[in-house]
Amino acid sequence: MKICVVGLGYIGLPTSLLLANAGHTVLGVDINSNIVETLNRNQLTFKEPGLDELFEKAKKNFQPSNIIQSSEVYIIAVPTPLENAIKMANLDAIRNASDAIARVITEGQIVILESTVPPGTSEHLILPILRENGVKNIYFAHCPERAIPGKTLHEMVHNDRIIGALNPESAEKVKTLYSSL
Ligand SMILES: NC(=O)c1ccc[n+]([C@@H]2O[C@H](COP(=O)([O-])OP(=O)(O)OC[C@H]3O[C@@H](n4cnc5c(N)ncnc54)[C@H](O)[C@@H]3O)[C@@H](O)[C@H]2O)c1
Repeated sequence: MKICVVGLGYIGLPTSLLLANAGHTVLGVDINSNIVETLNRNQLTFKEPGLDELFEKAKKNFQPSNIIQSSEVYIIAVPTPLENAIKMANLDAIRNASDAIARVITEGQIVILESTVPPGTSEHLILPILRENGVKNIYFAHCPERAIPGKTLHEMVHNDRIIGALNPESAEKVKTLYSSL
């Protein structure tokens, strides 16, 4: 499948490379130009056991970019830091990523949220933005990532995943995608 991973950090980059290694065509999008340029120079942006070897195997199917493109699947892996002052997660990056996807999404495409978010974020923030341009038939699931640094690749492949989906069709499509890992 053609997959766009939005956010190439500790979660998004290993996810991109695992999917690329599984044979998918992966566009990795990040707003940080340094990250995109470093990856395009064939250098990794952080260390993680097994990531070097995976990058070598997967990079032919992986394109880092600052620019989002229409894709069959979008995976949101942007930061959601806790803001102590308001005792809430800062959802600005989620809002911006959703805006970017809304500009390119078309009917029948799949959006997966992997970021850690408070209850209600999918229903009240992300889905209304994704539908802003009149696209009605979107498949959507929240599949929060739970990998621990130092074991990220092993956990991403071997941990059970929880898929909270908009409807049974979304759940089946997302299950099929993650099964490819
Ligand atoms: N790191 C972990 O071990 C871990 C584990 C479980 C869950 N999570 C969750 O996963 C999510 C991502 O965490 P992370 O550690 O990968 O964060 P990170 O800060 O390492 O990476 C996030 C990346 O997203 C990019 N970004 C921000 N806004 C963007 C936008 N609008 N469009 C494109 N890219 C954008 C940033 O430049 C950054 O490179 C968070 O919600 C976090 O809570 C992280």
